[in-house]
Amino acid sequence: MTLQETTPEVVICDTPEEVDTYATKKLVDQMQKKPDSSLTLPTGNTPVGMYVRIVDMYKQGKIDLSKATIFSLDEYYPIESNNLNSFASFMKQNLIDHMPIGKWYIPNGEAQDATIEAERYRQLLEHYQPIDLTVLGIGPGTTCHIGFNEKGSPIDSTVRYVKLHDETRVANSKNFLSPKEIPTGGITQGISDILQAKQILVIAKGEAKAWGVKRALHGPISSDAPASFLRLHPHVTFVIDRGAAQLLS
Ligand code: F6R
Repeated sequence: MTLQETTPEVVICDTPEEVDTYATKKLVDQMQKKPDSSLTLPTGNTPVGMYVRIVDMYKQGKIDLSKATIFSLDEYYPIESNNLNSFASFMKQNLIDHMPIGKWYIPNGEAQDATIEAERYRQLLEHYQPIDLTVLGIGPGTTCHIGFNEKGSPIDSTVRYVKLHDETRVANSKNFLSPKEIPTGGITQGISDILQAKQILVIAKGEAKAWGVKRALHGPISSDAPASFLRLHPHVTFVIDRGAAQLLS
């Protein structure tokens, strides 16, 4: 794959809800165009509104995921799948349990060996590449992560076990009862896996994302800011609200 720097499309929405509506439309359009699309989908606070709208669209008969193949972007490791904070629980609660889904794959946070599990997931994902549409959030503060690709993640990284950085563990801590419960690691699609998708949509809301969005779009493309690697993809769109856009000139 030859990678060339491009200028991503940036869509600035007046409100966070408009970000949700934009992202939902992208998914609806993709599914109408190709009912057996492959998708990579994220968890987190940012996409919740998008999932609410997708469920609503399903109820209105406007989206059908029954032939789709969905890959989760990442999962904590170790974590029990039925832990309410697992990304598996998140996906079920926000999407999977609401409608028929063709196939849904997620790394198994309960697997005995993280490296073997990561390799299983990598092979599965590779089989479906190029993914038709990948939706991503972006890390808060100065993390600039995508998936669990923290600072230092190389461009050629693939699905793997990673240790979470303290900034990420703190940012994700609010749903865990005590800091001890926050998993120390995760299994994530790598930068190289993400860049293989045909299209990438990055959604970001609020001022906590402003630094990361700016750094993703400007400055050197480097492992210091994993989201900056997205500038090497020819079809990436950042859909952000005014809060997340506030440092862009
Ligand atoms: C989620 C993920 C993370 C989040 C990011 C933003 O699957 O991999 O990279 O997208 O941490 O999280 P929120 O949306 O909670 O701000």
